[in-house]
Amino acid sequence: MYLKCALSVCAVALCAILGIAGSDPDPSADPPAELRLVDIVLECSLVEEGGGRLSMFASAFSRQPATLVLRKVGVPEHETLDSYTEYQPPAFDPEALIFEVEVTSASIPGAESLLHADCNEQEVTCEISQYYPQDEVPETAWFICSLQVEGGGVSATMVMRTQPITGEVGVEPQKQKKLDLPLSDSGTIQLAAQFNVFTSMPSVSTALGGTVLLDCGFTGEQHTQEVQVEWRVQHKGNGRRVLHYRGDMNEGVSDRPGAQIDSARLAAHRNASLFLPGFRVADEGTYICIVTAGLYQAQQVIQVQVQEPPSVNLVPEALQLQEGVTERLSCEINRYYPLDVQVVWTQSPSSSPPSSSSSSSPPPSHLPHIYFSSHRQHSDGTYSLSAYVLVNPSTCDAGTTFTCSVSHPSLSEPLTASLTLTLPEESRLWLILGVSMATLIFIFAAYKLVLQWNKGTVAKKGQLKNIKVN
Ligand SMILES: *[C@@H]1O[C@H](CO)[C@@H](O)[C@H](O)[C@H]1NC(C)=O
Repeated sequence: MYLKCALSVCAVALCAILGIAGSDPDPSADPPAELRLVDIVLECSLVEEGGGRLSMFASAFSRQPATLVLRKVGVPEHETLDSYTEYQPPAFDPEALIFEVEVTSASIPGAESLLHADCNEQEVTCEISQYYPQDEVPETAWFICSLQVEGGGVSATMVMRTQPITGEVGVEPQKQKKLDLPLSDSGTIQLAAQFNVFTSMPSVSTALGGTVLLDCGFTGEQHTQEVQVEWRVQHKGNGRRVLHYRGDMNEGVSDRPGAQIDSARLAAHRNASLFLPGFRVADEGTYICIVTAGLYQAQQVIQVQVQEPPSVNLVPEALQLQEGVTERLSCEINRYYPLDVQVVWTQSPSSSPPSSSSSSSPPPSHLPHIYFSSHRQHSDGTYSLSAYVLVNPSTCDAGTTFTCSVSHPSLSEPLTASLTLTLPEESRLWLILGVSMATLIFIFAAYKLVLQWNKGTVAKKGQLKNIKVN
């Protein structure tokens, strides 16, 4: 699918947002053999606090369009890139904000999702702001960039520092007007990525009770001994720590029972993913993976939601028609989370059971009056609800099927429960009696008729005989 998309649909559309220059593989970088190095160009904004203007109405943040050129990003070799156009730096403009970033020392795993975002009609959010590390380094400016592919894909936060501009000797490089930083010959601010924290799943939904893995990793050239990881969770205004890992001791201390990170995997693969066994409603929230490495700190945010599907059943399980008695038929929707459920009750007449495929049968009709109990919340945080209808024998007959159909975010299609009205035992007895009686009467009548007919024939024959004789 990617291949087709990259070749046809996106070849033109990509030019504006994404330009790929098939850059020469850098022999010094030495990427894994299966990766290919490409440049990725993204539309970004430079976000600054205060906006610089002293106006009462100035927003707290100002945004200015900027371009981010990620140089030498490793993407899998099988990606078809031949159809992409090359990125051409625009004419030299000291007002333009073009950040050209070397990412080889702090790579972005999963960066190919940035390439496909446009094909899949996903927005890429890209924000750059100035960054102030724990210690100042003279002659150096720092930026932090957060990249996010809407609706899945990679989310990354990258710390970058300016690189010295190597121009002609004795010639002062021109400076970017706004930031007062030296520009390269092509008019770009040259940066090198130093540290990168990323996740492949910025939002996670889970059923209750299972183990949830929250993905978080980092790249950079820091020693793992100087790495600290803190996992926090925030929910409805409350924040608390879930786990704290210290690289110098190579151990994690958990504040939530069972929470852990694999310290061997952290040391070997810079994988700071969190395991949360026995996930409960109370664990739901916004998780933050904060990685500190030497001078740098960056974080990723992962939304974790519980989606527990309901069970649906009808009470009573069987219902008989009784003349003049209105019955209550209740749909019990049990132990779901979150709160939002939708319930529809339908009724289909006896001539058209729901399975009937005949086109002439009328569609099931929606019941207009549904009565709801209030939500009940269980100690595990899940909810239950009853939605009932009143069944009146004057508006339906035996064979009518009632269906309760429940929609919930955890379900890809509604759950249903059905019941078909039956005749009461008593009237069924009468029916059997009636039918037997009618059969008996019929047989009796038929017998009499046959007898009479026989007599008549005999009489006629007799008469004929008589006539003949006479
Ligand atoms: C970390 O390890 C887990 C478990 O094997 C894996 O699913 C996840 O993709 C890894 N994440 C990173 C960022 O390497």
